[in-house]
Amino acid sequence: MNGPALPTPERHLLELVAAYNAKTPGSKRLAAQYRGVFADKSSIGMRFAPETKEICYPLAVDRAAGAYLWDVDGHRYTDILLGLGLNLFGHNPAFVREALTAQLERGFAIGAQHPLVGEVATLVSELTGAERVCFSNTGTEAVMTAIRIARAATGRPCIVTFTHSYHGHHDAALMRAPVAEYARKRIVERLAGRPLLRPVAALLGRMGSSRAVPAFPGVSAAAAREVIVLEYGHPRSLDVIRARAKDIAAVLVEPVQSRATELQPRAFLHELRALTQRTGSALVFDEMVTGFRVHPGGAAAHFGLRPDLATYSKIAGGGMPLSVIAGSARFMDRIDGGPWQYGDDSAPRTPTTFFAGTFTKHPLSLVAAHALLSRVKAEGPALQAGLNDRTQALVARINGFCRQQDLPLEFTHFGSFFALAASRSRIGERARQLLAYHLLLRGVHLRVGDAGGFLSIEHGDAELDHIVTAFSNSLAALRDGGLL
Ligand SMILES: Cc1ncc(COP(=O)(O)O)c(C=O)c1O
Repeated sequence: MNGPALPTPERHLLELVAAYNAKTPGSKRLAAQYRGVFADKSSIGMRFAPETKEICYPLAVDRAAGAYLWDVDGHRYTDILLGLGLNLFGHNPAFVREALTAQLERGFAIGAQHPLVGEVATLVSELTGAERVCFSNTGTEAVMTAIRIARAATGRPCIVTFTHSYHGHHDAALMRAPVAEYARKRIVERLAGRPLLRPVAALLGRMGSSRAVPAFPGVSAAAAREVIVLEYGHPRSLDVIRARAKDIAAVLVEPVQSRATELQPRAFLHELRALTQRTGSALVFDEMVTGFRVHPGGAAAHFGLRPDLATYSKIAGGGMPLSVIAGSARFMDRIDGGPWQYGDDSAPRTPTTFFAGTFTKHPLSLVAAHALLSRVKAEGPALQAGLNDRTQALVARINGFCRQQDLPLEFTHFGSFFALAASRSRIGERARQLLAYHLLLRGVHLRVGDAGGFLSIEHGDAELDHIVTAFSNSLAALRDGGLL
């Protein structure tokens, strides 16, 4: 006996869950088998929900090459996650693989100096314009170090961060504005849309708190007292930085945020540069995603300015764990006391802070970085420029489909990273998660919760066509399922 027909979204979800389970049984089996022993955040996706529970498992990947990866069930995917953006040259490029294989043959002496370390530092300096360069392993570590040396150099306690930025998982980076701030911002946006109420919106826009609160349980409430969270790109934020300058060691900026890519505030960044130059706070560009991708000199080169400090990882390490802290001698000398020479009376003159790490300067990371950055230097900015153009064309095609179908969505890009422009799109959290599953079903790999990704030089016309078709069909399926 047939029961009452299910409403469209529920039926859509059931069919999607069945299709995804049928395609990826190997991944599901692995997640189920080890869930007891393996505490794995990726197996709950962005947010656990009972209705998506049966598809809550990460895709288990067997191998990757060029623009593709293959899951444990043998399915091929065009990859747009690309190792969270690090594979500018696609997966497993031969020139990096050869460097790694040669180093593996020679072994890897941790804690000893690798002969290439100075050359890698020089490559970073040449590409980014930074005076001095130092290495750590992860982006989180690099940002932590940049903050510490900024505090040491300025003698000031506070760090400014901006809403929607991501700077890793140390305490200072896991602060957010109080909930009331988000409510205020929403009210300002609503009022600004009504001509008569615009003066009220402007007044409310100038108010607001710069207080930070821990964004997650376990993050230090004491650390929140030394963090100021401000609205990115907003003139009021410059006023707060000006007013509190004597407390501010560093202004930490993700120049174009991966969570709000549509905001590319060139004028704001230039004002921030001029302001921090006057106040003496370190301007720190966190270029984990943008570094070497948008331009060989990263977002700093794209926007035509020079921060005091910048942090990089992802592309720089050629797929191996490597992060970089780079910047002016005024700050970087806090690592080693500053340069000196043999045969005279020179000595380290600058008081240092603490910096260490067992795996820093890992030989495998250094040879991969050497191969990668040498290639970036040899190719010159034309490599990124070409890829940026291709990404722009890709986004235009997906947006063309959305317009033609009257879908309330708009995609945007910065360099060769593209994403849903959240502020210009109407899509619920559930539809956003399901979009990723639809794309996976259609052979495009990205992370659940993401609605965009990266291109590499291995993504040719066929891969771009595949991505456009997969996005178009996935969005149409969500619309037909009553989810858009
Ligand atoms: C802008 C930015 N900063 C910092 C980090 C943290 O880097 P990691 O995950 O290597 O610690 C990330 C990671 O994605 C990032 O995108």
